[in-house]
Amino acid sequence: KLVDGPEGQQKVVLKSSSGGSAEVFLHGAHVTSWKSNKGEELFFLSKKAIYAPPKAIRGGIPLCFPQFGPLGKLQQHGFARNSEFEVSRGSEDSVTMSLRPTTDLHRTYPHEFHLLVTVKVGSDSLTQTLEVKNESSEAMPLGTAFHTYFLVSDVDNVYVDVGSDGPTYLDNTKGRAETQLSGSKVKFQQEFDAIFQGAPDSLKLVDEKTGRTITVKKEGLPDAVVWNPWGDKQFADMAEGEYRTFVCVEPALAASGPIQVQPGETWSCTQVLSVS
Ligand code: BG6
Repeated sequence: KLVDGPEGQQKVVLKSSSGGSAEVFLHGAHVTSWKSNKGEELFFLSKKAIYAPPKAIRGGIPLCFPQFGPLGKLQQHGFARNSEFEVSRGSEDSVTMSLRPTTDLHRTYPHEFHLLVTVKVGSDSLTQTLEVKNESSEAMPLGTAFHTYFLVSDVDNVYVDVGSDGPTYLDNTKGRAETQLSGSKVKFQQEFDAIFQGAPDSLKLVDEKTGRTITVKKEGLPDAVVWNPWGDKQFADMAEGEYRTFVCVEPALAASGPIQVQPGETWSCTQVLSVS
């Protein structure tokens, strides 16, 4: 069901028969809300979020496509999060949105493709799948990420368990210098912006105050990005103090990309989020 959201943007509201719910905007196929079967909101969404193109919505799950961050020739995180999708199919608990390139996009990304993004909500889970078919006769460069902003009680109370002991990561705050994590937990005491290349397929975000654990499972995505900016003044679309209330855990094809999707090939990846 399509309903009106802020600034004339339309969103689809999904409900699972066992109680979970989610909202997905056509702008960017952007998931802005995910609620568990207890009705608790699990995603951060800024009070100052801008819903109008060409801005991406600050919070929820911006979709980075077909580039992660600055790793390529396109705008930061690619154009999908600033593009208008169409609904291609849907049911009560799931929707598939579709994007094809416009003439305008061809100027910076001269490839024919068909992108499908499917979001399905369960009683305590959210599954998101990206499928892209290269419909041109040339190879198509691709990087991507599900850039999820999880709502937390306070950044002081949480850690991300990256699933392996003492992994190295590329520190985006230090020109992607290779750095070693001590142990398997990321705690936040300053800006943290890291690409874990070849990360395990299951990561956990634990909030020790609320006792909530979010499990992030990834399929087909080699990397994971963990981010908290430790400040909000640098963002026009973040309200004061909001940085303390979220942590991003992002299954990604980042430093392991861009890959080349061959002509006629369909490439896909999935993230499964669950809460306990
Ligand atoms: C993260 C990057 O994925 O996204 C950060 O690692 C970046 O470096 C952040 O600051 C937010 O990006 P944007 O373009 O949405 O402000």
